[in-house]
Amino acid sequence: MVGWVGVVGIIGGLWVAAPAAAGQQPSPPSDHPDSFGLGRPATTSEIEALDIDVMPDGTGLPEGSGTAADGARTWTRTCRGCHGPDGEGGTAAPVVGRDPSSNRSTVGNYWPYATTLYDYINRAMPRNAPGSLTAPQVYGLVAWILAKNDIITTEAVMDARTLPAVVMPARDRFVRDDRRGGPEVR
Ligand code: HEC
Repeated sequence: MVGWVGVVGIIGGLWVAAPAAAGQQPSPPSDHPDSFGLGRPATTSEIEALDIDVMPDGTGLPEGSGTAADGARTWTRTCRGCHGPDGEGGTAAPVVGRDPSSNRSTVGNYWPYATTLYDYINRAMPRNAPGSLTAPQVYGLVAWILAKNDIITTEAVMDARTLPAVVMPARDRFVRDDRRGGPEVR
């Protein structure tokens, strides 16, 4: 275990675990009474590498931009092997298709926010190498998928300003959870 360093949690700030010396009883240091002598504050770059979430309103979207034509190039190289040349008919979930009666939840008939596409592709795709795409590549792929679903035009430029303004077909198929009396998770 010596030399092992890993991120252990995000509770009241981010801490990185480091091994305690063998036999040493952990006890909270006076300046960090909750840490039991373990770990150290994560560095800014360690936090930035994990802090990639994009909110429905677009908060967290990075600089950069892309069009469907840019996305088409990346799609052919990186995505079509699993999702098919036109975004459907591959072995993986289709990303094109708007028919609500098809019984398949797709970007075109189920996703309420276009910004989620950015977050999801940036975080999870390509499935065999998540995190490998640049911001302009992700914007291009988002533009390509939205254009294939006839949600934006093929010329539209997607960036941190335009993407949150895209109205998805499924936006009004969701209702706000207004229940009270329990934990409020939004
Ligand atoms: C190795 C195969 C593979 C590759 C390559 C791949 N994907 Fe995926 N993708 C998947 C699988 C499998 C799912 C379904 C994941 C799930 O449901 O958990 C998925 C899901 C998705 C979804 C969500 C579909 C939905 O409506 O639920 C999107 C969007 C997507 N991929 C985009 C991309 C893009 C863009 C690329 C290229 C950068 C890409 N994928 C490359 C396998 C792949």
